[in-house]
Amino acid sequence: MLQPMTEMLKKARIGKYAVPQPDFVNIEMAAMYLEAASQSGSPIILGYGEEYLDTSEGVDLKHLVRLIEVLAKEYSIPVALHLDHGSSFEACAEAIAAGFTSVMFDGSSLPFELNLAITRRVIEMARPAGVSVEAELGYVGTAKDTDDDSRLTDPEKARIFVKETGVDALAVSIGTVHGEYKGKPNIRLDLLSEISAKVDVPLVLHGASGTGRETLYECVSRGICKVNIYTDLVKVMIGSLKEDMQQQNPNIVSVIDNMHNAVVQELKAYIKTLRADKQG
Ligand code: CO
Ligand code: CO
Repeated sequence: MLQPMTEMLKKARIGKYAVPQPDFVNIEMAAMYLEAASQSGSPIILGYGEEYLDTSEGVDLKHLVRLIEVLAKEYSIPVALHLDHGSSFEACAEAIAAGFTSVMFDGSSLPFELNLAITRRVIEMARPAGVSVEAELGYVGTAKDTDDDSRLTDPEKARIFVKETGVDALAVSIGTVHGEYKGKPNIRLDLLSEISAKVDVPLVLHGASGTGRETLYECVSRGICKVNIYTDLVKVMIGSLKEDMQQQNPNIVSVIDNMHNAVVQELKAYIKTLRADKQG
């Protein structure tokens, strides 16, 4: 049975570990992640980005949910199905109607008051459905965005935001980026500690790829309870495919198998870093 992420994250906060949220774009990727989590005995949040809906044929969300439900039933670990970076109230409503057990409303590029107001509305809709909600304050961009402190999460604003919304989890901006870093990452652990001291909900780190295992664990020990991973998993997939496709006559069975195993190993390594193994 799929579940919301609320309980998983509460336990993670108490146990000082973080639940991994790898993003999938198809069922095969979700299957790899479930296998890695199951082998590690870790809870897992399967993230599905709103941006992936925009394929040439379109995605039937209800169909996707049914497939994930069947897959998840094969494993005894806690599994949540989460909409990543929902851009609007409507997108979150659509995911909830389809059966997602968790949604993120990402209003991080909106003015504070508007972000707060829409997050509130999403929560009002999600609560009766038993769906957990993540919001974002401060803006986790990409390496292309201008590198100034205005994107970072303001601890006092975070305190007010959480108090006013009652959100289940808050994504913070402390120097990570989506995709690849430009140069060496500058992660503001001091800022994370400040936010943690003011906010009593589980905090979420986006853009974990390339951050470095030691820094990641330091983030976990300072209040990060959920870590989103995508780029590093995709890099491993592409690396494995590239290598295998250099052969004269690639065998499709081993090509797929190698890619599958490489991703399982990479995610298991992340799970160890996050100390989420044997927590499911
Ligand atoms: Co993200
Ligand atoms: Co396998």
